[in-house]
Amino acid sequence: MEVFHYPRSELAASIVRQMTPDPIFGALSGLHLAAPRRTGKSTFLRRDLAPAVLEAGKFPIVVDLWEDRSRDPSDIMRRRIGQTLEHLKGAAGKVLERSRLRQVSAFGFSVGIANLEPYSGTIPEGLERIGAEVSRDIVLVVDEAQQALVSDGGMNTMFALKAARDAMNQRQEGPRLFLVMTGSHRSKLAELVLGSKAPFYGGSVQDFPVLGKDFVRTLIEQVGAARNVKITLDDGVAAFETLRYRPEAFMKALRDEIFEAALSGEPINLRRRAEDVRQDLWGNLEAELDGLSGVQRALLEALMESGDSFSPFAAQTLKEVAQRAGVGEVTKSAVQQAMRVLVDHELVWQPGSGRYAVDNQDMLDMYLRKRDGA
Ligand SMILES: Nc1ncnc2c1ncn2[C@@H]1O[C@H](COP(=O)(O)OP(=O)(O)O)[C@@H](O)[C@H]1O
Ligand SMILES: [Mg+2]
Repeated sequence: MEVFHYPRSELAASIVRQMTPDPIFGALSGLHLAAPRRTGKSTFLRRDLAPAVLEAGKFPIVVDLWEDRSRDPSDIMRRRIGQTLEHLKGAAGKVLERSRLRQVSAFGFSVGIANLEPYSGTIPEGLERIGAEVSRDIVLVVDEAQQALVSDGGMNTMFALKAARDAMNQRQEGPRLFLVMTGSHRSKLAELVLGSKAPFYGGSVQDFPVLGKDFVRTLIEQVGAARNVKITLDDGVAAFETLRYRPEAFMKALRDEIFEAALSGEPINLRRRAEDVRQDLWGNLEAELDGLSGVQRALLEALMESGDSFSPFAAQTLKEVAQRAGVGEVTKSAVQQAMRVLVDHELVWQPGSGRYAVDNQDMLDMYLRKRDGA
């Protein structure tokens, strides 16, 4: 059976409209879109955005930097470029049909990068060549772009993309290059645009909209008709919100609740079911917190409380951490060691020396919701 997909063509069209060299309306510096994990970014790129880009007469290339996290982002980018050129071989000068372009673009979703040859030239040169082969503007979509931060190779890739974009967009004629970067970590994605040394300095990170009421309505109507059950839109929306707008978790709650209600003869209670599903997810996170020492946990909580202004070695923080952990005193070296453990566990990450931010966004979400009694 075909999995349920709620199309988002309006959103795709509005993004494509921004791909114009117009200095006022266009987003020539590129788009940087952030939304939490599992909320539908990659699905949108593949199912809605890439087709809309093709429809608009441009050529989409989608690269997922999480496709293989053991590989350097530069390697992933080179392989994807190599693959695209391979499939376009000899196309230059010919009129390429949209269906052919769709096919070439789709290879990027179906063939694993491990089997591909990396492009041997530079990234700007490779993109330039692709533009010449397809004789159209290129829209390069980099999914999980914040992964570039993990290595020098990754950052160099971002600088190469910026160089390619400037070269292709500043000349008089020839195909243009538009960049769309998506990521599941807002503050990491922001590192690509903030600070004068950032590759896309001057750009800004926007929230990628999560699925909403219409998605919920469509789904509960379809399920309702098939199973002969009635679920109100309010209950559906509340449950979806409880599950942080994650389609999979929502569909699971819906399925389980309908199934069990049918067995037990009880009325359907989707809100309670969503809370149960969330409780399961939180249980796993709690277990992770239980594995931390008192000081580690106190530091993590202090960071989650203070956000950007967190400074682990400040006297005030040391005092607060000692209090939270219920110990007399905490030394700087103990804090240093504890921060290292939190970074190793991917609970915390370090945007720069002395700067810290929460890495696990689900943990942060849980902490804030529990604190605020949500
Ligand atoms: N528009 C949609 N309609 C139905 N299901 C969706 C939609 N978008 C995402 N999903 C489902 O949600 C899950 C997570 O989507 P994914 O695109 O992988 O999220 P992300 O890239 O943000 O982590 C997938 O199982 C996907 O099938
Ligand atoms: Mg994704």
